[in-house]
Amino acid sequence: MIKKTLITTAIDYANDVIHIGHAYEKILADAFARYQRLINGKENVGFVTGTDEHGTTNEKAAKKLGIETQKHVDNISDQNKKEIDALDISYNRFIRTTDEDHKKVAADFFKKSFDNGDIYKGSYEGLYCEGCESYKTLTELNENGQCTLHTTREIQKYQEENYFFRWAKYSDILKTLVLSERFVLPDGKKKEMLSFIENGIQDIPVTRPKYKLPWGITCPIDDSQVIYVWFDALINYFTYGSENNLWDNETEIVHFVGKDIARWHVLLWPAMLASVGYKLPTTIYVHGFINLEGEKISKSKGNVIKPSELVNKYGVDAVRYYFLRYGPIVEDVDISVKHLEDVYNGELANGLGNTVARIAKLAQNSGIDFGDFDFATFSGDDLKMFDQFHDFRVDLVIQNIWKKLSLLDKHINENEPWKIKDQDKLKEVLTYEVGEIRNITKILGPFLPSTQKKIEAVFNKSFIKVGENLFPRL
Ligand code: MSP
Repeated sequence: MIKKTLITTAIDYANDVIHIGHAYEKILADAFARYQRLINGKENVGFVTGTDEHGTTNEKAAKKLGIETQKHVDNISDQNKKEIDALDISYNRFIRTTDEDHKKVAADFFKKSFDNGDIYKGSYEGLYCEGCESYKTLTELNENGQCTLHTTREIQKYQEENYFFRWAKYSDILKTLVLSERFVLPDGKKKEMLSFIENGIQDIPVTRPKYKLPWGITCPIDDSQVIYVWFDALINYFTYGSENNLWDNETEIVHFVGKDIARWHVLLWPAMLASVGYKLPTTIYVHGFINLEGEKISKSKGNVIKPSELVNKYGVDAVRYYFLRYGPIVEDVDISVKHLEDVYNGELANGLGNTVARIAKLAQNSGIDFGDFDFATFSGDDLKMFDQFHDFRVDLVIQNIWKKLSLLDKHINENEPWKIKDQDKLKEVLTYEVGEIRNITKILGPFLPSTQKKIEAVFNKSFIKVGENLFPRL
């Protein structure tokens, strides 16, 4: 049986352009997608990212600017795509929830859930956070009555007629899923998800009246309502997957999400899928948050950095490396531009760049023929270096590669090939060193795709030439 993989990231709201916090997840998922393509073939991998364009947040952002909502989301989606492209994210589709195919798939999904008896008419009276696009209970607010994640926004009071999804009905199924191995990772996240279930899952409104929020997908069973933005947005994964033969039992479905939205993916999404009888996701991988110099990244704090700003200054692979190696793969992390620069100088300019340059120069000066090399075939030893991808620990995979690199650097320093006069001895030492750098280069692709290509161009043929400076010192 062919194993296919569908990899997704959360789709970003289109109220404002993404910052480096949002970008982390894209880089993480991209490294995993590139790895899957290496081991399973690119025809067996689908990777989708995009923008979440309906709902109150997006509509209000457009209103504030005095422009049509569609124009606003077109503009932001376009800018987000450029940011993501600047990071060399190898998505197969950049999906937008305003895409016609998605609107149709989402409406059909809703209708199917309704036909199966899981959606019913009701009325909601309660609280809503527009930042989370989520219904809230009093116990979820801080002592000032604000959402703990969006303290600059006012909590809204809603009283309206809408349609509810029978979420509570799926509590037992969800509990079994959460307890099962690898459904939610890292394991530390299980407890939080179980406590949501134990506190009692309530049925949830899945439409909003159009007279209050016209910006959404028209509800297929009542055109005076639009589909609730989370119900609509989660279906994006299925839109892409089902259209690309990637929503079946031969496909492993992996969702990468941040900790603030784990609950929607771990608890609501599987219930929605169970309601229509479609395959459930295989794994939901939940990462932590990036803070910048001890502060939450936010527009109101004025500390927003766009991915492209870092890429323009340090180069795409340096940015990728930094986030993959030091990003919030499990817990939140605190980053700073100073730390990024230290890492750049220490691990990229000095570590990788310098080692590559030294070996290339020694190899070229030696005039020795090192033979051609196959960068595309992976041995058991190569694949072993990727072992920790099993737990999505991209940081540890990189750590191991850099260990190998520093051992190689040590080998060069100890053997001092530039001093060796005996040709046979020189050949032996350099053959080992060229071989090692080639082996390291081979496995760099998921993390530093363009650097890999550059090193490959220097080391691929028997004649080794000195390449450009990979990471010029800052
Ligand atoms: N639109 C919803 C997701 C719908 S998925 C069907 C949403 N959008 S978001 O723009 O607010 O966030 C997108 C992703 O970025 C989420 O996974 C979120 O956790 C992540 N991050 C936002 N800020 C972040 C950091 N500071 N650090 C790491 N990830 C962060 O939620």
